[in-house]
Order: sequence, then C-alpha cells, then structure tokens
Amino acid sequence: MKPLFITLVLAAPLAASAQGGAIFKDADLALGEKLLAENQCSACHARRVGGDGSAIYRPQGRIDSAGKLRGMVEYCASELKLSLFPEEVTAIAAVLDRDHYHFERKR
Ligand code: HEC
Repeated sequence: MKPLFITLVLAAPLAASAQGGAIFKDADLALGEKLLAENQCSACHARRVGGDGSAIYRPQGRIDSAGKLRGMVEYCASELKLSLFPEEVTAIAAVLDRDHYHFERKR
C-alpha cells in the first residue's frame, strides 16, 4: 500500500477532532456520490423517515460536527457490512456535508 494511504488512515481521526470540516477539503465528491447511490443508503433511511430518505440527515441533531458526521457514515457502512476505505467514508461524508449539513461552509 502506498505511504499516502497510511498517512490518511493515521491522520483522519486527528484531523476530524482538531479541524472540523477541514477533513472534507480533499474529499473525492464524485466518488462519494457514486458510493451513496450504489449502497442504497437512502433506501433504508426512507423506510425509516419516508420520502427520499434525506429527512434522516438532521444537521440540528446530535451530529454536530464533521467528525461525528464521518463517524456516523462509518457506523452505517459497517451495519451494511460494507468494507470501505477510509477515504471512501470521507468522500461519502463530504457529499452529505455539502448537501445537508454544511459544517465545512460554517468554518
Ligand atoms: C439498514 C439501514 C440503513 C442503511 C442501509 C444506512 N443507514 Fe444510515 N441510518 C440508519 C438509521 C436507522 C439511522 C438513524 C439512527 C438514529 O439516529 O437513531 C441512520 C442515520 C444516519 C446518519 C445520521 C443522520 C443524523 O443526522 O442523525 C448518517 C449520516 C447516515 N445514516 C449515513 C448513511 C450512509 C452514508 C449510508 C450508506 C453507506 C447509510 N447511512 C446506510 C440506517 C441505515
């Protein structure tokens, strides 16, 4: 594995707690959109909240930082038994941030 990969793995949790939305700075949004669509995230959320499922994303709720958002994506992905790379988790979280949470923009 490339050294860059190792750096990302080690740096991501630190960056999440220390820098908030900055963890999404270099995220691959196109990859995140693809993974969100492919993994039926909204299908399950829709069963819970109705509509297109996006009502489950509550920026005013307990997900109140970019780090927690990323953690929640990781949690849901592990429920799905997806084995995502850390940068894939970050990419998905970055798309949700752009479309729903806007932690990055608040900075
Ligand atoms: C098997 C069902 C299921 C699937 C599939 C699923 N989720 Fe979830 N997700 C949930 C449930 C249930 C909650 C609400 C948890 C709670 O707050 O009680 C949730 C909550 C979330 C939240 C937090 C919302 C908030 O603001 O509180 C995020 C972010 C999220 N999911 C992302 C994802 C992503 C990304 C995927 C696809 C990779 C995904 N989920 C797939 C069931 C699922």
